[in-house]
Amino acid sequence: MKVLIVGSGGREHAIAVSVAKSARVDKIYCAPGNAGIGQVAECVPIGVMEFDALADFAKEKAVDLVIVGPDDPLVGGLTDVMEAAGLRTFGPKKNAAILEGSKAFSKDLMKKYHIPTAAYEIFDDAKTALAYLETADMPIVLKADGLALGKGVLICNNLQEAKDGIKTIMEEKKFGDSGNRIVIEEFMTGREVSVLSFVDGKTIQIMSSAQDHKRAGDGDTGLNTGGMGTFSPSPFYTKEVDDFCREHIYQATVDAMAAEGRPFQGIIFFGLMLTEKGPRVLEYNARFGDPEAQVVLPRMKNDIIDVMDACIDGTLDQLHLEFEDNAAVCVVLASDGYPLSYEKGYVISGLEKFEEKDGYYCFHAGTKLTQEGIVTNGGRVLGVTAKGESLRSARANAYEAASWVTFENKYLRSDIGKAIDEQVEK
Ligand code: AMP
Ligand code: GLY
Repeated sequence: MKVLIVGSGGREHAIAVSVAKSARVDKIYCAPGNAGIGQVAECVPIGVMEFDALADFAKEKAVDLVIVGPDDPLVGGLTDVMEAAGLRTFGPKKNAAILEGSKAFSKDLMKKYHIPTAAYEIFDDAKTALAYLETADMPIVLKADGLALGKGVLICNNLQEAKDGIKTIMEEKKFGDSGNRIVIEEFMTGREVSVLSFVDGKTIQIMSSAQDHKRAGDGDTGLNTGGMGTFSPSPFYTKEVDDFCREHIYQATVDAMAAEGRPFQGIIFFGLMLTEKGPRVLEYNARFGDPEAQVVLPRMKNDIIDVMDACIDGTLDQLHLEFEDNAAVCVVLASDGYPLSYEKGYVISGLEKFEEKDGYYCFHAGTKLTQEGIVTNGGRVLGVTAKGESLRSARANAYEAASWVTFENKYLRSDIGKAIDEQVEK
């Protein structure tokens, strides 16, 4: 069969590598893809928001399955456009992707269906929001309602910071129209865990857990980024946590969406906070995490096409989802200066080593193929993933593999998974 993957990041490279493993797949296209994806797929220069061009291309090539990677096209309704054109598509429709597309929607859904999350209020104008802050406890969390490249969340330690935050989001419109509406939320403390799942509208199957490292610097210092590294599974995602989430969060979310007339088909990514009072939902995403996919998918035993088919056909209850009994760590190699300003266009060397070694992956995020070879073309350049029997050995392997690759201004965190590893060993 022929598959079209929509997207161009490390997540889509991880999806492409999984799809390429399927015995059922003969040909993979990726729009627009990147230099690494180009090694397993034919990249076509169509942007992820060019819905008509994507549908025309998929029809012309008689593509059997379209897989949508990123949030923007999902929230914008690419699945609806594809399905209207008669194309089988993996990913939620617009009316379900709103689970990620509007934080106000997701908070109201959780409230209505008693899904545990932080207490919150929603405001459509700055004046009322500012008045509310006067009586609220600090710290407090401000969230722009819409998609904001993962950056629309401000944690404010005191009233002044919170007032400034309201101005930034609602008046200066730092996150554009995403900030027309704001969610003001109780600040929670605890460990964060990411849980990805496959959903077919009624059944949900949970993948192995993961944890991201969002800050740019070691020891969780510095600016927030798209993610500097991940590991899977999380040692803190215990049986007790899993039981609680199965009882109160996962199926409840799927049932709530169905009850609202918005059946969800695709990936639900649960961002969880393990608080003293139990797990709480921080956020939902309607897609694989990036770089969570880079540690979860390499550990999945199933043929990804079988699982996606089951999601589309509503037969996920008949499938047994299986993960390897090991660990994986992904270390992001970035351009120094990310997430602010950085230079690109530097030649990358050492990539060929990954071809020889099983259990090691180099997922491309911001790269480009030029006459000089593969060069850096973004803030996050590569995600180096390695497996191991334990988190500790996966870490050692991932850092060894990260040293194979060189380019000018290469920057990486040296502590992905480290604090956790040390706590677990104690
Ligand atoms: P979100 O995009 O909603 O996941 O928020 C981004 C990050 O902000 C999360 O990964 C948390 O680290 C933090 N965050 C979001 N909501 C809260 C909250 N209610 N309390 C504490 N931290 C939060
Ligand atoms: N790694 C977080 C995300 O994909 O949203």
